[in-house]
Amino acid sequence: MPKPVQVRFNINQPAIVNTQNHFAEDVNRGLSAGHKTVPPKYFYDALGSQLFEAICLLPEYYPTRAETEIFTQHAAEIIGEAPSPVTVVELGSGSSIKTRQLIDAILNRQGSLHYQPIDISPTILEQTAEKLLGIYPTLMITAMAMDYTHGLGSLQRQKSEHVLALFLGSNIGNYNPEESREILCETRNALRPGDALLLGADLKKPAEILEAAYDDALGVTAAFNLNLLRRINEELQADFEIRNFRHNAIWNESLGRVEMHLVSRIEQKVRIEALDLTIAFREGESIHTENSYKFDLDQISVMANDSGFRQHRTWLDSEKRFSCNLWIAV
Ligand code: TRP
Repeated sequence: MPKPVQVRFNINQPAIVNTQNHFAEDVNRGLSAGHKTVPPKYFYDALGSQLFEAICLLPEYYPTRAETEIFTQHAAEIIGEAPSPVTVVELGSGSSIKTRQLIDAILNRQGSLHYQPIDISPTILEQTAEKLLGIYPTLMITAMAMDYTHGLGSLQRQKSEHVLALFLGSNIGNYNPEESREILCETRNALRPGDALLLGADLKKPAEILEAAYDDALGVTAAFNLNLLRRINEELQADFEIRNFRHNAIWNESLGRVEMHLVSRIEQKVRIEALDLTIAFREGESIHTENSYKFDLDQISVMANDSGFRQHRTWLDSEKRFSCNLWIAV
């Protein structure tokens, strides 16, 4: 008899008050600076997480399709190269759709699985867990609604188990080189020698393709980016006139990254009541909301070595747009 769903699901999340404070502090710091920014993790509230799921379905946004193709073709082989038996921890799991292909391959090998997704959005974790538990009667889920750093600290494992960490999509690309190194080292510290990390990394390609992927014709990515202002309005009692800002995505060749901005269409002032703060924008001034770094294969091997792993194998999609890298902790 499979265990009932309630017994197989646990969610850990910090007190709401706490997360609210961080949001307020981070927005305060980011928007008071000369070069205005807001940390990208705040994109992912309930609406933002759904908009990102919609981005993944867009014709221009190739990374999800390329990575899905890699898993469709190679999941069994990828899992065959990973240690066994494993518990899986996933950083930024979202809807876990791509993860299902890996879960299938793991369950073919070991019968049951303890899956530990970490995501900043508790709503998406709950929705996803409900679906997964319905599909897989031998899956156990411990979800962590927090940022990766905190989640990795509470990783659980049985004595006999190895850990397979998943960092999929273009997530690593959202950190600058120093931050990526830090997060990869933190991941390595939560692991033991012989454990593995499966890392998705998007590859460099022509500017037109990259810019379209981050500024689609339907405007879904624009909505995703602008949703940050709506969230500040709602949660911090601000009066951003959202129509007075526009989404802008540009490929920065020298830094190897696509930059996302919210550009003020006019000179304007915005009041954020909860912070007792008024912010002035010049016409054309931007809030830099996110970067998405793109890599070449040599850079990926260097990152592995710099963070205590060795690059074991790399899989690419048929158009060589995206890479999936299996690293072993040394
Ligand atoms: N991790 C995703 C990526 O870098 C996030 C993302 C996709 C994103 N489109 C975006 C972030 C637009 C900000 C704006 O591909």
